Amino acid sequence: MKTAFVVLAAGKGERLGGQPKQFRLLGGKALWRWSLDRARALVTGKLVDEIVLVLPSPDSVKEIGPTLPKDVIAVAGGATRALSVREALRASSCETVLLHDAARPFLDTALCKRLLNVSSGENAVIPLLPEANALKRIDESGVTPVDRDGLFITQTPQLFPRVALLGLLEQASDFTCKDEAELWLRNGNKLDWVLGAQKNFKVTERGDWEMACELAQNKTICRCGLGYDVHPLVPGRPLVLGGVVVPSRLGLDGHSDADALTHAVSDAVLSAAGLPDIGTLYPASDERYKSIYSMKLLTDAVSRAGECGWFVEWVSVVLTAQTPRLNPWKEEIVRSLESVLGEGRISVTFKSGEGVEPAGTSRAIFVWASATLCRNRVIVTD
Ligand code: CTP
Ligand code: MG
Repeated sequence: MKTAFVVLAAGKGERLGGQPKQFRLLGGKALWRWSLDRARALVTGKLVDEIVLVLPSPDSVKEIGPTLPKDVIAVAGGATRALSVREALRASSCETVLLHDAARPFLDTALCKRLLNVSSGENAVIPLLPEANALKRIDESGVTPVDRDGLFITQTPQLFPRVALLGLLEQASDFTCKDEAELWLRNGNKLDWVLGAQKNFKVTERGDWEMACELAQNKTICRCGLGYDVHPLVPGRPLVLGGVVVPSRLGLDGHSDADALTHAVSDAVLSAAGLPDIGTLYPASDERYKSIYSMKLLTDAVSRAGECGWFVEWVSVVLTAQTPRLNPWKEEIVRSLESVLGEGRISVTFKSGEGVEPAGTSRAIFVWASATLCRNRVIVTD
């Protein structure tokens, strides 16, 4: 029996406000990616066979689809959660599905195992948590206590036989149910349940978001990488630094565009991620890299690091050049690098060589860069 894991990320996040919450960055990665990474771990652990990601629109599928691992099916959702689920079920080919809110980033494997253990392939199973708080109802008659005995909070993932649930959704005329369990029960079906998990809470309001940010921080590890480069300054070559062409009598000599600054930053990023250096990944002997715009290499290095779960937290650069004076170009260079590294993630310092050979006599430019990369601990530990 095959199981699909569906990440529902097509909502508007109206209660939290701002951009749809699933696209907010939590610990450096989009909220929806937390669930996707969990799903990938489930595939690796052979608990799940297929992943479907439901995004808000065909445009978002076009934009995000190419950045996804090849085995993830991306589809556009609908105006309500039930319609988003229907699209996912249509796209899947598995017998059972685990339907999970992208707004619940801290799903653990143990909960998924509990659900799968109770699954017969034909029943539905959902996670429930006993309500622990004293409850009140507020209405026109004022505040009255509500007995919490027998009340449970519903979570996701919710497990269903795919074809049976799809049948209900294809025939439904009302798509406003809060979750699929509601639709399932309304049609006279039986439901099994397992114990949910406290930390599998849903990010709905501002307080949830703040709590998620704190939890994500505890799960983050950082590593620092060092990069260095030097190129000779010669006449008749453009001077490219951080992807910006700086007017200069002399330019840097080299096989690519000789952008020493971008090379140092790329090596720092690759080193922090524990990946091979640029000389190994993009060798000068390979004709494909002749005269290449080095910002392309940096983009590739950042994306390779991203594939291993690393995101750039901070990059610090020191560059030594006697001529030309580079401070007037600093803002443009920083902006150019930010277009790859992310806004507000780089500091660049220019030093003159004080006449000391060879940078101080305009014969070369030296660059040192350090990159701090962070990764969510959760990806590597379970
Ligand atoms: N969802 C979806 N398609 C919809 C509505 C919701 O895929 N048409 C997803 C959300 O992206 C979220 C999950 O269902 O991951 C749980 O829904 P909820 O917390 O209500 O998210 P939103 O609908 O986005 O938020 P709000 O109700 O505050 O607008
Ligand atoms: Mg909603």
